Amino acid sequence: MKKILITGGAGFIGSHLVRLFVNKYPDYFITNLDALTYAGNLENLTDIENSPNYTFVKGDITDESFVETLFEENKFDAVIHLAAESHVDRSILDPMSFVKTNVLGTGVLLNAAKKNWTNLSNKLFYHVSTDEVYGSLGEVGFFTETTPYDPRSPYSASKAASDHLVRAYHHTYNLPVVVSNCSNNYGSHQFPEKLLPLMINNIVHSKPLPVYGKGENVRDWLWVEDHARAIDVIFHKGIIGETYNIGGFNEWKNIDIVHLLCRIMDKKLNRAEGESEKLITYVKDRAGHDKRYAIDATKLENELGWSPSLQFEEGLDKTIEWYLANETWVSRITSGSYKQYYDQQYSKR
Ligand code: NAD
Ligand code: TYD
Repeated sequence: MKKILITGGAGFIGSHLVRLFVNKYPDYFITNLDALTYAGNLENLTDIENSPNYTFVKGDITDESFVETLFEENKFDAVIHLAAESHVDRSILDPMSFVKTNVLGTGVLLNAAKKNWTNLSNKLFYHVSTDEVYGSLGEVGFFTETTPYDPRSPYSASKAASDHLVRAYHHTYNLPVVVSNCSNNYGSHQFPEKLLPLMINNIVHSKPLPVYGKGENVRDWLWVEDHARAIDVIFHKGIIGETYNIGGFNEWKNIDIVHLLCRIMDKKLNRAEGESEKLITYVKDRAGHDKRYAIDATKLENELGWSPSLQFEEGLDKTIEWYLANETWVSRITSGSYKQYYDQQYSKR
């Protein structure tokens, strides 16, 4: 039985990945290591929590002795590393927690793998990263795997540092690694501080829809389950030492997405046409706001045969339906300390 450590499995993408692996590979044993920060929620995994090939461990990837003991006791064959601080706005307010989790935490995991994997055959350290490490594009062009790194937010800088560490462990110690850099994900179970779930939640509650700047920044959106499928493909077929870009071939200006959401949700909520659009509020721009991200995922398509399965309109509809059907999930996680953060953030504007 292959033993796989997935870090950050209680978060948005991690929970989709854990579900996919637990259900698809009964002969793999999945250990989900997660600190359950504000972004981690075991409710995301209730459907698989009793599966015989799954266990959850609460712990912090920056805790060196804890991580080393975990590796010694479990004899993992592979790591798929997703645990991170993931929100750019938070990284602007508190960069050091990003340095700690994303850089130090990745270093601790790499070191534990290096120490414990005395025989490197059939081992893999898979590092899940973001396209934001490549910086910001102008009107044209795409990020490829050879685009030079140019991170501009504390979040992307911390992810870039972690990517470099992973590759350094490969070159220096022969650690078998693979890295993927993905565009913006959307789908169910995303914490409602990121653009799509925040806007959906605010439309439901008729709260202002805070569009940063003029709303002209562009992101490339990918259905989260397609990201999980890509990780599955790269985990099994990716070449050691290689990097794969993952993207949706699906660019949108923020303001166009917000308008689209408003139109769809007016219908779903039986509101008059144009009612939700009245909530759009242009607010101060994000500091250092990257203009455009766009991924060229041709390498992954051509070499490993992956492509996105879902059209954006269909994925958006499924996402909205999920948030409408799971309002208690949203209200539970947006109360308490998160509510305080949210109120502070938006009262400042
Ligand atoms: P998320 O914020 O939803 O989840 C992160 C998870 O990591 C949470 O469950 C949290 O509890 C856990 N975690 C945080 N700090 C930890 C620590 N010190 N020790 C152990 N666990 C800890 O993030 P996400 O959106 O699911 O992103 C997952 C990964 O994918 C991240 O590495 C992120 O950089 C990358 N990524 C995200 C996107 C996106 O659009 N969300 C796109 C590309 C890449
Ligand atoms: P976000 O979901 O935070 O992802 P990222 O910054 O990692 O791409 O933001 C997506 C885009 O939406 C980004 O250009 C910032 C913008 N945005 C808003 O305009 N308003 C908001 O309230 C949020 C959270 C984001």
